[in-house]
Amino acid sequence: MTDQTRIATTRTASYEADPSEVKRVLLLYSGGLDTSVMLKWIQDEYGAEVVALTVNLGQPGEDYGEVRDKALGLGALECQVIDAREEFARDFVIPAIKANALYGGGYPLFTALGRPLIAKLAVQVARATGCDTIAHGCTGKGNDQVRIEATVATLAPELRVIAPVRGWQMGRDEEIAYARKHGIPVKGGTDVTPYSIDDNLWGRSSEGRWIEDLDHAPEDDVFQLVTRPELAPDEPQEVTVGFEAGVPVSLDGERLEIVELLERVAEIGCRHGVGIVDHIEDRIVGLKVRDIYEVPAAAIILTAHQELEKLVCTIHQNQFKPQIDRQWSYLVYAGLWWEPLRGDLDGYIQSVNEQVTGEISLKLYKGSARVVRRASRNAVYDKALASFGESGGLFSQQASPGFIELWSLQSRMAYRLRERDE
Ligand code: ARG
Repeated sequence: MTDQTRIATTRTASYEADPSEVKRVLLLYSGGLDTSVMLKWIQDEYGAEVVALTVNLGQPGEDYGEVRDKALGLGALECQVIDAREEFARDFVIPAIKANALYGGGYPLFTALGRPLIAKLAVQVARATGCDTIAHGCTGKGNDQVRIEATVATLAPELRVIAPVRGWQMGRDEEIAYARKHGIPVKGGTDVTPYSIDDNLWGRSSEGRWIEDLDHAPEDDVFQLVTRPELAPDEPQEVTVGFEAGVPVSLDGERLEIVELLERVAEIGCRHGVGIVDHIEDRIVGLKVRDIYEVPAAAIILTAHQELEKLVCTIHQNQFKPQIDRQWSYLVYAGLWWEPLRGDLDGYIQSVNEQVTGEISLKLYKGSARVVRRASRNAVYDKALASFGESGGLFSQQASPGFIELWSLQSRMAYRLRERDE
């Protein structure tokens, strides 16, 4: 044990583990460098057993058999792989769609939505396998540690948490050295630091490297999901999303289960370069950070949902709901998924969404997704009333002057008072 890799013995929070009591650890395992080093390191430094858990939230192109084999090869007692795509889509992404959830005006919260589910599953598996402690690979600078630890501390007060990356002070080079020394397979070239990636079926983020230089325009190699708009097809494509009570249920008229629908929408968006976001974000731990997001499904579905909701809601609902939506997004971003206020807000959001049924068509073309058609039996819209022509007495244009007189009354009075005093 070197100074650099020693375990943290000072506990700041009640849920942090006392090293002498760590006997069996549930490790949230991705198969990447950090958590692979951790799998070995926990066994060595704590003398503890490790159960690995990998959660499938629809990370594109992941080979879960390979991840499991790697965990077992590194000495895990067992490695469970849970396919949680359905639960993630149903219980986390759909509520976010209904809330038009975009933090900071650009981030559809895919990571923030995934963490409470991952941590909830970690609690379940930890209890079922007799673990006393949950370990994760988050750093001490990000939001993810907050989301995971807040969830564990909320759902399982009897469990403890360790976050080795926060304490072990190994940089990437030391981790690679540690991996080499302990026979941990290191993937790919080790000369270039990779981006820090997190992804699931609702989007993908990249952080690190040049992304930290705010004046550095995105380099092409960061886009591993969405086609760069300049390479997207010259032919536009129209896509129609059908909603029932706020839930996306069909694509171009074909009814689909939610996971398949989201995956197919993502695929279409990727092809047309839709959903690239270069985002500066206020983290809850005080830092500002830049993320490159690729969110093809969210860019299409959220745009369509918001458009349909606007059509079926009154002016008053349309003025009010964005405030509720913003609060919802902030709670979720900030790691407070289990906070009762979110449930309260969901009650209102759900009530509004009862009316959100219909179809929205978007034209996708070289990075843009533009609404071109709308249809809903709940639209608060009457062509006869709105049209330039005669409305057959339903909307009395003769009544308008009276309305304008009363509507502008206070504003006119106040204006005159100010003139008098000048
Ligand atoms: N900035 C986003 C968030 O806080 C994405 C974080 C991605 N996480 C990661 N471990 N790379 O939710």
